[in-house]
Amino acid sequence: MLLLQGLSVDMRSLILLITLSCLLPWEAQQHQPGSAAHSCFCKVAGYLDDCTCDVETIDEFNNKMLFPKLQKLLETDYFRYYKVNLKKPCPFWKDNSHCGIRDCAVQPCPTDAVPAGIKSPGFKYTETANMGNGELECEKEQRLGAVDESLSEAAQEAFFQWNQHDDSTDDNFCEHDDEESPDAEYVDLLINPERYTGYKGADAWKVWNSIYEENCFKPKAVKRPLNPLVAARGENDETMFYNWLEGLCVEKRAFYRLISGLHASINIHLSARYLMQDTWMNKIWGHNITEFQIRFDAAHTQNEGPRRLKNLYFIYLIELRAISKVLPFFERQSYLLYTGNKTQDLQTKKLLLDILRDTRDFPLHFDENSLFAGDKKQADRLKDEFRHHFRNISRIMDCVGCFKCRLWGKLQTQGLGTALKILFSEKQIQSMPETGPSYGFHLKRQEIVALLNAFGRISTSIKELENFKRLLENV
Ligand SMILES: *[C@@H]1O[C@H](CO)[C@@H](O)[C@H](O)[C@H]1NC(C)=O
Ligand SMILES: *[C@@H]1O[C@H](CO)[C@@H](O)[C@H](O)[C@H]1NC(C)=O
Ligand SMILES: *[C@@H]1O[C@H](CO)[C@@H](O)[C@H](O)[C@H]1NC(C)=O
Repeated sequence: MLLLQGLSVDMRSLILLITLSCLLPWEAQQHQPGSAAHSCFCKVAGYLDDCTCDVETIDEFNNKMLFPKLQKLLETDYFRYYKVNLKKPCPFWKDNSHCGIRDCAVQPCPTDAVPAGIKSPGFKYTETANMGNGELECEKEQRLGAVDESLSEAAQEAFFQWNQHDDSTDDNFCEHDDEESPDAEYVDLLINPERYTGYKGADAWKVWNSIYEENCFKPKAVKRPLNPLVAARGENDETMFYNWLEGLCVEKRAFYRLISGLHASINIHLSARYLMQDTWMNKIWGHNITEFQIRFDAAHTQNEGPRRLKNLYFIYLIELRAISKVLPFFERQSYLLYTGNKTQDLQTKKLLLDILRDTRDFPLHFDENSLFAGDKKQADRLKDEFRHHFRNISRIMDCVGCFKCRLWGKLQTQGLGTALKILFSEKQIQSMPETGPSYGFHLKRQEIVALLNAFGRISTSIKELENFKRLLENV
């Protein structure tokens, strides 16, 4: 509660708003029988609590205008290749008492069960859930979770030039993270879409739990609601949890909502690109309505679901805000989205600027001033805290047993981290000279790619909600 001191009145009212929004409406409402769509969506309509923005405006803006442009942007060479180190060992669970050894000792899959085609060198499957479903399940999980590392020769050659270009323009003052490691490699995001991988159950929950715990400093007695690892769940848990959440200062609550929104987004993708049919001949991916309902329907989730969906809109607004604010950085004449192909680079930049200007013109932005730009000392400390938490979450991602999930988890964490970095750096961005170096603020290629791709994911989720809504109406 130390952090509460010195907050502005604005900030206090924001705290109140978020607090109220978290707590009041849901418990008061009874689940009403009616169409299936009703029970997921009726509570996610109208005004969002902590901004002057309503869900319908976001839907309209995103689905009609932004989403198609973003898709086009993310297919360009600049944005499709993401450099990432997927080979870092999990720093927490082997020699850590974070969970009981017995629970962690998941059975590795027999390697000869894995089709030769995906036994790509360098990938060792050390932690894969084998939830007693037998080797078949396990093998399937590996197959779906593998990352396709293939890159065209032309692409590989180009990367050498990219690196040279980036090295010469980077003011590398900040984190020397994954990117510098010799294990960091480019991955083609287009051939590794985020979708259902079979990675769920205890293993996946362990990761998400760590992430939620990480944000919290919370007392042991307070359990997050709906954690399937907690077998005997009392009715009181939910109330306790939200009481606890209420007691937190605004930044930590915002942090929680961001993580929850990210979690919701990932689950929407897994439900929207579910493996509906799996034979050697072909795979069919599609919307699995049941899976969606299990995760988001109010009745299935003790009212958690609609709250999760609201958090999805919250993270959308935060990332949207960040993207609109970073416009001056890319507007500088000298700034290149370098791939070496001049024509293409110019086209990509034009498209990016087009998107950024659209986001700037969005009428009902989240007002983050109260949240991120208190007095300088306060803001600096917050910035540090957030950075610290994000770094840790990114390390937790190294514990994700499924490589494709790890890839998208890392990308989205970095994207969200970058968004916050932008929001914290507003002044530096505004005072940026139109040409020459960008003193005080810089984004690396990896951050830019992560930022736009992460936002692309959230944008896709909003769009997918529309699809699910339509599908559920016909159930
Ligand atoms: C980072 O997260 C891990 C796993 O949840 C936790 O055990 C550890 O205490 C955290 N470290 C810091 C420095 O917060
Ligand atoms: C859809 O998801 C549900 C719940 O996870 C699962 O039981 C069902 O088999 C899935 N449907 C198909 C067609 O795979
Ligand atoms: C450069 O990009 C343009 C536009 O995408 C494409 O038509 C052209 O073939 C590319 N040139 C080279 C040398 O790859």
